[in-house]
Formats: sequence, structure tokens, C-alpha cells
Amino acid sequence: MTDDVLVVHGGTPLHGQIRVRGAKNLVSKAMVAALLGDGPSRLFDVPRIRDVEVVRGLLEAHGVKVTDGAIEGELVFDPANVEGATTDEINVHAGSSRIPILLCGPLLHRLGHAFIPDLGGCHIGPRPIDFHMRALREFGAAVEKAPEGLHLTAPDGLRGTKFELPYPSVGATEQVLLTAVLADGVTELRNAAVEPEIIDLICVLQKMGAIIKVHTDRVIEIQGVRRLGGYTHRPMPDRIEAASWAAAALATGGDVEVLGAEQVDMMTFLNVFRSVGGEFEVTDVQPPLAGNPGRQGGIRFWHPGGELRPVAIETDVHPGFMTDWQQPMVVALTQARGLSIMHETVYEQRLGYTDALNKMGATIQVYRDCLGGTPCRFGRRNFKHSAVIAGPSKLHAADLEIPDLRAGFSHLIAALAAEGTSRVYGVDLINRGYEDFEAKLSALGARVERP
Ligand code: EPU
Repeated sequence: MTDDVLVVHGGTPLHGQIRVRGAKNLVSKAMVAALLGDGPSRLFDVPRIRDVEVVRGLLEAHGVKVTDGAIEGELVFDPANVEGATTDEINVHAGSSRIPILLCGPLLHRLGHAFIPDLGGCHIGPRPIDFHMRALREFGAAVEKAPEGLHLTAPDGLRGTKFELPYPSVGATEQVLLTAVLADGVTELRNAAVEPEIIDLICVLQKMGAIIKVHTDRVIEIQGVRRLGGYTHRPMPDRIEAASWAAAALATGGDVEVLGAEQVDMMTFLNVFRSVGGEFEVTDVQPPLAGNPGRQGGIRFWHPGGELRPVAIETDVHPGFMTDWQQPMVVALTQARGLSIMHETVYEQRLGYTDALNKMGATIQVYRDCLGGTPCRFGRRNFKHSAVIAGPSKLHAADLEIPDLRAGFSHLIAALAAEGTSRVYGVDLINRGYEDFEAKLSALGARVERP
């Protein structure tokens, strides 16, 4: 156990307003895209989270000048002097994020070689990078594995290619996009991921001068161009953070307005939220008028009282229910009357956190079978990837150790919903993806303190 601990006095419904900023899973990729431009780029609404610091450090190590812009949350990237970084400079970031893998294509284009340290990120399954490596080799890259990381070169440059992903991986799709935009010729990517964060990355690249066609049926066609300029971009809001606060409102019987949240990115979540018995209202932007300062829009989520209903959910790639919405939602489902099912089909080991919920009084059983919907890739591979949640359960306080980012936030929600005082260890991990979460908790009336 670490001494990084948050004491949570549970049992108080969360009430109030918080704001989400640019999506972690777009902002970090847009930052990498800045490497491809021959002019400066500006990104607004960048959250102060650890993953952003890691990517900033990596860009700076490669000679990109990163400065804070005039507006709070604005970052400016100047890639005029991109250069190779030393192994030591890069290794400072080893094991801290999965983003470094996306530097492969841009560095190969800019420098002709790349070194990528050991990857980090949440431990939610083996998280291989085989799709990335196969795609890069198809473009003409030579990849050499060494104990300290990966060394890549492109002796004959990078050429457009036809490539089909075995599974619509978000990261591998981004890898292909960031490599294909400056590759020689046309690239056709089949079975691509089409998450809103990917579409927003395509918008960033298009602003830079890329030619990218998104066809139906997960086909993306990229026509390589000779040069790209900089971009100015306001990222899509963080729909994972928004859903996390929504689930916290539901689990604690509260009422939280998430300013900045966008309905269009969260439709699948909103359907489930309503089916469970939660209520929401999309609060529209009110422009400033004479004497009225106006207000930012968002989505208000609340528990209307009475009992919640059980649901069967299957996580999936877009437009399915996001795997990152799963953990916070399961905490809320411990409060629904009856049996709910959660079939996790994106990551094979993303239900381990349910042990902690059971310790707090929840009744959750995990199974190797594909429960609910359609059989998935994990059914025959002996992974416990389906959960049955029996509720409602009265949660009680416990000492908890945070295992990964999303599970960590769900531990926090459970502690907030539980009777009594919990100690949540390792909470600093939550700063990887949730900006100012302690300040936001306090703003919502949560009784939390550092001992
Ligand atoms: N996969 C492979 N081989 C590969 C790449 C992926 O087998 O080379 C498998 C993975 O093991 C997994 C599945 O494909 O079973 C999907 O993985 P994907 O590549 O889509 O995930 P990712 O790009 O590594 C991003 C987000 C995750 C989010 C997933 C799914 C970032 C930095 N991470 O990960 O976010 O869960 O897409 O939407 O964008 C988080 O924010 O906490 C987080 C884990």
C-alpha cells in the first residue's frame, strides 16, 4: 500500500456542476500529430492530466518547442527543429503511457528513424502491439526489438499500402493515419476503428493538409501528401470523464451537470443511463446577450429517486458501449434491483476491479462465458470477461487499492456511495486521466480529505 491515500466519507449524494475539457484520448494524439507539420500548431482546452505531461515531455525530447498559449488550456507546438532524442531522454517516459508507440510514423517521416521505449498504460489485458508493427512493416519500416524498446528505420521511405486490421483497434488505426498522411501514395485501411476521437484526429490532420476519406463499413482511404502545415483545433470533450461523473451521480443518488459534455458522442451511454432509470437533460449553450453572461452547455445527470432497473450491456467498439464506460456503470448497477449483465468484449481482463466492489458488499460474479449478446473473441480463451451484478446492495466502506485508471475512478464512486469512511490508496493514478478530480469532488459536495 502507498501513502498516497484519499479518505472518503461516503453516503453523500453528489450535487453540482463540473466541467470536462478536451478528451484525453484525442488530445494526446493531436499533440503527436503536431510533429508532422512544418509550422506551429495550437490546441485548445487541453486538460491538466499526466498523459498530457508525458506526451509533452516526449515531444520536447524530440526538439518540439511546447509553450502555454495565451488562453488557459491552450498549448502551442513548434516542430521547426525536430531532432533525435537520446535513449535516456526517451526512457524517462518508459512505462508511463501507451502514446509513445504513436510517434513511430511521425518520427520516421521527420528523422528517418525512431526509438520507442517500453510502453505503459493500464494493466487491463496483455495489450499487444502486433497490429501496429505489422502495419508499420507494410509501410516499409524495419522494426528491431531490443530489451530497452523498439528501434525503427525506413531505409527506402514509407509507401502507402493496403492493410486490414484483425480487430478495429483505436491505437492501430491512429498509427496508420499518422503514418499514411505523409507516405508516398494511397493507403487503404480496412476494419478501421471509427471512434469519435479518431474522427476528430482526422479533422486535425485534414486541417494540416491531409486527404483522408472515411468510407462506410470501416474503410479509411488516405492519399499521401508531400507536406503538412500546422493546425488550430478545439478538441472534442472527454466523453469518458463525462460518463464517469454521470455514473457517480447515479450511484450516489445525486444530480451532476457535466458542462462541456456532448450528446452526440454519448448517445449509446445515454440510452443505457435512461434504461437503468437515470434521468438526464441536455443543457444547451446560451450565448451571451446584453446583461446576461450566457452559459456553456452540457448534460445534467440525476437519480430521480425510486429503484434503478437492471440491464444487460455489452461493451464494443464505436458505436457500441465503450469499454471505458463499463467500470463506473457497474458501480451504479450494484444499486439496480435484479440481475444486470456486463459482457466486456474489448479487453479480456477488465473486470478484476469487481473483487473490491464485492469486498464492499456488492454481489458480482465473473464468468469465462460470453453472457448476453454475441459470442466474442474471448469466449474460448478462458478469460473472465462477463459479469453478473445482483442488486441492490448496500455498499459499506473499505480500504481500497487503485488498480488502473478507470477501475480507480469506479473505486472512488463506490467509496462515495458506501456508508462509512473508506481509504482509497494510489489515487494519484487517477490524475493520469481526470483533471483536478479532487477539486471537482469537493465542488460536488463529496466529503473527501487527504489524511
Ligand atoms: N489489440 C491487439 N493488438 C494491437 C492493438 C490492439 O490485439 O496491436 C487489441 C487490444 O489488446 C484490445 C483491442 O485490440 O483487446 C482494442 O485495443 P485498442 O488498440 O483499440 O486500444 P488502445 O488504442 O490501446 C484506446 C484508449 C483506451 C480505450 C481503447 C478502446 C488511448 C490512449 N487509449 O486504447 O483508453 O479503452 O482505445 O476504446 O486512446 C483509458 O482511457 O483508460 C483507456 C484504456
